[in-house]
Amino acid sequence: MKFGYFDDNKREYVITTPLTPFPWINYLGMKDFLSLISNHAGGYCFYKDARLRRITRFRYNNVPLDMGGRYFYIKDNEDFWSPSWMPTRKVLEFYECRHGLGYTIITGRRNGVEVEQTFFVPVDENCEIHYLKITNKSTQPKDLTLFSLIEFCLWNALDDMTNFQRNLSTGEVEIEGSVIYHKTEYRERRNHYSFYSVNVPIDGFDTDRDTFLGLYRGFDAPLAVENGKSFNSEAHGWAPIASHMIKISLQPGEAKELVFVLGYVENDEDKKWLKKGVINKEKAYKMIEKFKNPEDVQRSFENLRLFWSNLLNKFNVLTGIDKVDRMVNIWNQYQCMVTFNLSRSASYFESGIGRGMGFRDSNQDILGFVHQIPERARERILDLAATQLEDGGAYHQYQPLTKRGNNEIGSNFNDDPLWLILSTAHYIKETGDWSILDEIVPFENDPQKAASMFEHLRRAFYHVVNNLGPHGLPLIGRADWNDCLNLNAFSTNPDESFQTCDNKDGKTAESVMIAGMFVYVGKEFVKICERLGKEDIAKDAQYHIEKMKEAILNYGYDGEWFLRAYDYFGNKVGSKENDEGKIFIETQGFCVMAGIGLDDGKAISALDSVKKYLDTEHGIVLVQPAFTEYKIHLGEITSYPPGYKENAAVFCHNNPWIMIAECIVGRGDRAFEYWSKIAPSYREEISDVHKLEPYVYCQMIAGKDAYKPGEAKNSWLTGSAAWNFVAMTQWILGIRPDYDGLLIDPCVPREWKGFTVKRVFRNAIYNIQVKNPDGVSKGVKKVVVDGKEMSSNLIPAFSDGKEHFVEVIMG
Ligand code: BGC
Ligand code: NOJ
Repeated sequence: MKFGYFDDNKREYVITTPLTPFPWINYLGMKDFLSLISNHAGGYCFYKDARLRRITRFRYNNVPLDMGGRYFYIKDNEDFWSPSWMPTRKVLEFYECRHGLGYTIITGRRNGVEVEQTFFVPVDENCEIHYLKITNKSTQPKDLTLFSLIEFCLWNALDDMTNFQRNLSTGEVEIEGSVIYHKTEYRERRNHYSFYSVNVPIDGFDTDRDTFLGLYRGFDAPLAVENGKSFNSEAHGWAPIASHMIKISLQPGEAKELVFVLGYVENDEDKKWLKKGVINKEKAYKMIEKFKNPEDVQRSFENLRLFWSNLLNKFNVLTGIDKVDRMVNIWNQYQCMVTFNLSRSASYFESGIGRGMGFRDSNQDILGFVHQIPERARERILDLAATQLEDGGAYHQYQPLTKRGNNEIGSNFNDDPLWLILSTAHYIKETGDWSILDEIVPFENDPQKAASMFEHLRRAFYHVVNNLGPHGLPLIGRADWNDCLNLNAFSTNPDESFQTCDNKDGKTAESVMIAGMFVYVGKEFVKICERLGKEDIAKDAQYHIEKMKEAILNYGYDGEWFLRAYDYFGNKVGSKENDEGKIFIETQGFCVMAGIGLDDGKAISALDSVKKYLDTEHGIVLVQPAFTEYKIHLGEITSYPPGYKENAAVFCHNNPWIMIAECIVGRGDRAFEYWSKIAPSYREEISDVHKLEPYVYCQMIAGKDAYKPGEAKNSWLTGSAAWNFVAMTQWILGIRPDYDGLLIDPCVPREWKGFTVKRVFRNAIYNIQVKNPDGVSKGVKKVVVDGKEMSSNLIPAFSDGKEHFVEVIMG
């Protein structure tokens, strides 16, 4: 069952009913001012940091769902309703939500009045625009009253939800003309305020929530709206809101447009006040002025569209399969960019409070968007490296506002450092910019402890070498990529988090996944060393890689698949000897990606075991058999009921590792089958089962052991976006940036006749046509570039600003 459809021409997903199984959301904003917006106009916005600079309030886990947003009410005689359906939930004659790239348009119609609401954050502006077009589609004149409503968060989102003894006394506002200013805590240490304006004179306002709503009422039926009249209330403490009242008369067929601006302003310390107690509003005036007329909004909106077109124009494919093309060209790339912007901070599953930016997560995000804005990838890599510890390890998270490592979560996730090498390698391959390695970057954000970026990578590599266990495999530390495989935690206390609890000093528990990663990523490190002429380091690194390969072959293989780990006692994890959790996905992916077992059948056998034991109709589950009881020596993974999260759900993040591995062994049919099982566009048809947005990846889909297999959770901010993009574009389509050019090495289903790709790469445009006359999966027999036959499938980086035509014949 579907709840909408893709409009590929407009690059939109069109939701045709408000009754989606879960709020389906979109993101507005690109850099500092960011918003979440659902198909009911629910959600919130913040400046840079979802915890510390939260501008509007949202109620997670509330009933009804999706409470808090940018709400409008139309009072039409005795009736009142909301064009976004929520919060009044009055039946609409027409409802449509168009989620586009950086904007959302929600249209609702009732009693012949149609309201189209366009929400977006302009490029380079710290505000949300709410542009409304109200049309009288009836045959009678209409005298309407429109009410707006947003509720302010008192900035610190955690404090806002917990510290009522203080917060119910701090709220402050100013009202001037049609603008309502939220200046809570501005009197003291804050130098920022927000405001909500409209471009016409208003007939009333409210700023005190409880006055506006009336006693014991909800957003669904505010007293002011029911009465058709604002109270002109002024908030002092309690809960500040901004609500405008505007009377609108419309002849049949007539339309009126309104522009609301929800803005954020920072003032310099010495320019905070106009006079005692009155805030300096200069910057707000300027921002409001920019969007005075609907034409200004139109221009800014076009600008936004252009901005996204430019970003997405770097990679375009035409396979003739619309479910593939729309993922690759539109939604997967869009999600990669959004995920990069927000890391894992704020979604409908991440509260924006709990987490800073993950070191591992953010490095992986680079892989998905580096082709879109390499400059920002560079900046992010350097920021991440600056939080690295001197021994090469890493703080697991850092705070975006301060860019400092987060002590609360600490370090000791022993896979972390390797992701820095991977992201840097991807960056160099995309851009050819080797100069990043010369950048001088601090350790632990301490300029006294600075070294070159190359040195950061070297220490990252040797962090693994310096932390090996009894089998010569890497010690796992707190955990590796699988945050829930906690082999040193032994937690018995329900009041502590597996992620932060004290760990035993782990000198035994080893990770075969980090071992595979080390070989995979280590090869990049060696290439980088060689390129820089650092032969000695290259040689030594290669030696350690060879030793690691041996350790994996000797101690990391279990007969039919790769083991997952050794536990605290030195026992096998992910082995046929175990009663549960006999086979895990991660090592089958990473070890084959590393090239281990390619020549002796081990790789094929591992991948066939994945097919046999882990593959399901909804994707590949993480582990089998699922754990049915808490095993203290394995940690959080066994805390989840079977089929959920790390305990045998389909993790959309690591399925691509198997797709890539399948491409490496040349099985394009299987790689594509895995890709399409979890691709949102393919799952759209079962949206009632899947529940979440059919245009973006989610972290997990409930596995076969779950109560409802196929049900997804944790959409939007997940490494699944980047890895699925890499698997599809670099391995299945096979357009793979390399240090010296663009490699073309597709691995497709045999029935594919070919495809074309337009790829912008290092300041040149590559028009690539791949033909598959013999119906093979892999292999390139002829490459012609600009009419000249080439001797290899590595196309040079022309970097000449010109278009080039590449013809590739598979066979
Ligand atoms: C989740 C993991 C996540 C970790 C850190 C765990 O509860 O299951 O998926 O990586 O928390 O946030
Ligand atoms: C989500 C986390 O953000 C990521 O870092 C981790 O690798 C996966 N969960 C798997 O546990």
